[in-house]
Amino acid sequence: MSCCAHCDATEILFGPEKASRDLKRYMQKGPDKTTELMLKGIRNAKLANVRLLDIGGGIGVLHHELFKDTINRAVHVDASSAFICIAQEQDLKHGREELVDYLHGDVVDLAESMPSAQIVTLDRVICCYPDWETLVRVTAEKADTIYTFSIPRDRWFVRLFIGIENMIRRVKGDAFRAFVHSSEKLDSVLGEMGFKKLGAKGTLSWEVFTYTNKNSLRS
Ligand SMILES: C[S@@+](CC[C@H](N)C(=O)[O-])C[C@H]1O[C@@H](n2cnc3c(N)ncnc32)[C@H](O)[C@@H]1O
Repeated sequence: MSCCAHCDATEILFGPEKASRDLKRYMQKGPDKTTELMLKGIRNAKLANVRLLDIGGGIGVLHHELFKDTINRAVHVDASSAFICIAQEQDLKHGREELVDYLHGDVVDLAESMPSAQIVTLDRVICCYPDWETLVRVTAEKADTIYTFSIPRDRWFVRLFIGIENMIRRVKGDAFRAFVHSSEKLDSVLGEMGFKKLGAKGTLSWEVFTYTNKNSLRS
């Protein structure tokens, strides 16, 4: 993967053990809360037979779920080969390996080779990336209809928790860092790019935003 130390650290942090744990949790309990809220927002748009571009897709929960009623193709982008491997195993198991394309690497490096899609998702990914604005710009420009993402809430206890985690990583020599980015600044960039906010939901520590590309409202 041709990228910085932070991206290499992402590959290490999201390794095989974490991928297996995420799969086990999904099998036992279904989608996590942020993913569930994101699915709700997407399904409210009542799209069918469309393509999903899932950035930092992890073990692929969003596409596994949306193949039930919303999408007929998916592109799964992730910096972790272990997560891609688990997602691929699930696709093989369900006989839809032909319907999903996988791109491995840093999404910003891969931006030019990513297709556009009616739905673009970033579930708990923007907080993994230092340069949120570039990440949001290169991914939102791929969204024909829905752009949805989850980010940690900008609250003191969330910042404290993430700050402590980052401090522990620094001590251990781990280059990965998590970030709390401002939802107002994200909103301003998306507004400037022609997106309209459809809704915001959340949990105590996470917010899930759904936007629509205003061009899709005209057609
Ligand atoms: C916290 S996990 C979330 C996984 C999944 N979206 C979910 O919510 O279950 C973050 C994911 O984003 C991926 N990721 C982080 N930074 C990335 C980047 N710059 N490019 C591509 N993938 C990235 C990680 O490898 C990891 O799979």
